[in-house]
Amino acid sequence: MEQNSLAFKQKLQAFEARIARGEKIEPGDWMPEEYRSQLIRMISQHAHSEIVGMLPEGAWITRAPNLRRKMVLLSKVQDEAGHGQYLYHAAETLGATREEMLDALLSGKAKYASVFNYPALTWADNAVIGWLVDGAAIKNQTMLAQCSFGPYSRAMVRICAEEGFHMKQGKEMCIRYSQGTARQREMLQDAINRWWWPTLMMFGLPDEKSTNSEVLLRWGVKTKSNDELRQEFVDEMVPEIQALDIVLPDPDLYFDEDSGNWIYGAIDWDEFWRVVRGNGPCNKERLAARRAAHENGLWVREAVAAYAARQKGTQ
Ligand code: 3HC
Repeated sequence: MEQNSLAFKQKLQAFEARIARGEKIEPGDWMPEEYRSQLIRMISQHAHSEIVGMLPEGAWITRAPNLRRKMVLLSKVQDEAGHGQYLYHAAETLGATREEMLDALLSGKAKYASVFNYPALTWADNAVIGWLVDGAAIKNQTMLAQCSFGPYSRAMVRICAEEGFHMKQGKEMCIRYSQGTARQREMLQDAINRWWWPTLMMFGLPDEKSTNSEVLLRWGVKTKSNDELRQEFVDEMVPEIQALDIVLPDPDLYFDEDSGNWIYGAIDWDEFWRVVRGNGPCNKERLAARRAAHENGLWVREAVAAYAARQKGTQ
């Protein structure tokens, strides 16, 4: 349909009125192509982030300090796999195929959260990933639960419930580390030093640099801007981290009485783009792991396809 045509303009007006009324747009409803393509981009990359996000912590399952921690970490990593499935399904309702999305990830074309291209060096990293990274994910995903696209919004409600457990188990471990030996306190401080800034990058580019936010906000995919969410996260986390006598790796951080905000220092967006463009500490390792998993899973996909074909044949 010609974007300049009267018919398109009328449909767009009705679409935007539905969003203004707080209605959910469902897969079979009329939607502008840009709404569809933005959602496929965002949801598929969210799904990739969940699946790649399993890797830093997954490497520690066999090295958990005790059975309880092993069971909790196993459960968390399995949750992330499930989140990836919900989100790939949500993207499929818009016409994307699983093969296209996985090809985009495995070929390096698609993005996923840059935070997962950093190594989890000690068990304290698992504590900090749970508290900070999953905490940032909850901040973002709680907003996305209000998203105008029905399947994404509903997936977020389920995912946020599980992320709540992820954050709490990480926070509990951070508190235990902070009350531990000098060595354990050092491990916690070192992990916060390494994960704080990549976590702030999870909220996206600064509003004035964001290439996607305007249309996402206009059509109710996002209801808050990247910087708004980032500031809310910083305001909540700084006092809690400082309460553990941990020093944030930001010498420019200060509390602004007028705004009531913790003003943070400059984020290194050069580092962000270096990592997003494939040159982070673990990018190659992460994609190699996903490619190996995909190859190792070929026999399962072939068996399922053969079974489906036989079932079809007998119908
Ligand atoms: N990592 C990698 N790429 C990023 C990024 C990040 N942290 N932040 C932004 N980018 C990319 C964007 O994808 C975009 O590239 P593209 O147009 O080729 O896709 C480009 O940088 C410009 O960024 P914008 O800020 O304009 O992009 P958005 O407005 O889409 O904001 C976002 C980025 C905040 C990630 C947004 O897409 C979003 O909210 N996505 C859904 C949530 C999500 O994907 N979260 C990832 C973490 S999932 C997770 O943490 C799992 C949990 O269990 C731990």
